[in-house]
Parts: sequence; structure tokens; C-alpha cells
Amino acid sequence: MNPSPIGVFDSGLGGLSVLREVRAMLPHEPLVYLADSRYAPYGDKPEAFVEARTLQVCEWLVAQGCKALVIACNTATMHAVQTLRERLPVPIIGVEPGLKPAAASSRSKVVGVLATANTLKSAKFNRLLATLAPESRYLCTAGHGLVALIEQGDVSGPAIREKLDAYLTPMLDAGADTLVLGCTHYPFLSGTIRDMVGDRLALIDTGLAIARQLSRKLDEFGLAASPDGAPEIRYLSTKDARHLHDMAAALLQVDARAETVAIEPAPAIGA
Ligand code: DGL
Repeated sequence: MNPSPIGVFDSGLGGLSVLREVRAMLPHEPLVYLADSRYAPYGDKPEAFVEARTLQVCEWLVAQGCKALVIACNTATMHAVQTLRERLPVPIIGVEPGLKPAAASSRSKVVGVLATANTLKSAKFNRLLATLAPESRYLCTAGHGLVALIEQGDVSGPAIREKLDAYLTPMLDAGADTLVLGCTHYPFLSGTIRDMVGDRLALIDTGLAIARQLSRKLDEFGLAASPDGAPEIRYLSTKDARHLHDMAAALLQVDARAETVAIEPAPAIGA
């Protein structure tokens, strides 16, 4: 039995949508959530910066004693997961847009994919697209501006609705019946999307699949915590612990200790 925490990392608040599933599946595991909100969004930063900063933050989490890491950020996974697996001595669980489950459940075989610009242009994402059966069409759209609004706490206001309308209407017009939420921030928009499009789009979010994968890895490496421990959850932000605390309380209804931490200097690659 291993009482060390699991590190869950995102550029900002989005990974809380993954943390929610991890907590539900593994309620006895201690967790450290790190939001690199000082440098969010990652989705339109230079790719070399995303890779180097992700490595820097994850090395820091391992130095804090994390026994496994969940990269709860599609953008960071796309650009850095291979490097992390080569360099870090703990299991690394990444996320990727749920294209396969979307294709399997779509009847119209037209699938909308909403993700960050960096995710959509990454080699890893394009390799994933290339492996899929050709009978489905994927309408890939960068959700410019959504992450910045969610970071400010806006998940349903007029600005969010205006952007969603611009991104989703062309997908619906093209016959999409399924939408991949390809950024971990976007599950917090599910209610607003549902309100706007009703049941015309089935929403695909991979949080639950990630929690399952984490559970398998903990078993495989003998890292699971005792099932009767009293686990601690800590929130760490590189920008503003109070904001992270309040957003987690609002989005997840979890009240936990939050601290602001400095992980500096950030890599000097055009950030
Ligand atoms: N939540 C992240 C993702 O899944 C990153 C968003 C961003 O920082 O732009 O892609």
C-alpha cells in the first residue's frame, strides 16, 4: 500500500473535470491538483514552450513525492507525454480527445471535435486521426477564447455562448450528431452546450476512461493506497490559490486546502 499522492496536472482549471472522475473512482487516494494558471492557456503558446513547461512542472510534482501523474490536459499530453515517459520515474497517464468512442457512437458518422489549436496541429493528434476508419468525418475546430473565459470563471455567460454558437453551428449544419470535448476545460461547458443544442449533439468526454486507466496503472505498479485511509486533497496554483479554491468549490463542490506555489523560471521559449 502506497500512501503518496497522485499528481493531477493541467494548464489551469480544466483538469478539475478529470479530478472529479478520479475522486469518484478512487476515493481513498490522496491527490495533489496543480493548475499552472500563471501560464494558461497553453493552447496557443509555442509548442516548444508547452513541452518544456510541462516537463518542468511534472518534474516538480515528482520531486514533491507524487507516485504517479495524470496529465489532465490534452494540449500538454499531445506535446510532452513521450518526453515525460522517457524522463520521469513514475507512471504517466495522459489524455487525448475521444475520437474513437465518438466514431463508435455517431449515427450520422459526422463528428465535431472541439480542442485547442495546439492539440489540433500536434503530430500525435494527427497520427490518431490517421488511424481511424475512414467512414466517419471529423470536423476539427479550435475553441479559441474558451479556455481564457473558463479560467475567469465564465462557463455560461453571453461571451461563452457567442463563441460556442460560432463553433457548433457549422458542425450541426454539416450533420454532426456527436461532439468530442477535446480539452479538459470543456466538460464545464456541458450544461451550456446542452442548453443551446438540446440533444442534437452527444457529448464525448474522456474523464471516466482516464480514471479507469489510472486505476489499472496503480494496480499494475503496486502503487494503490490503503482502501481505508483518510485521503487528503491539495490544490496548488502557480497564480492564485484563492481563485482555484473557489472555482473547485463551485465546479466540484469540494472544499480543500489551496496554496499558491512558484515553479520558476519558466522555460524562455517565447512564452
Ligand atoms: N485543459 C487543456 C486541454 O485539455 C489546456 C487548455 C489550454 O491551456 O489552452 O487541452
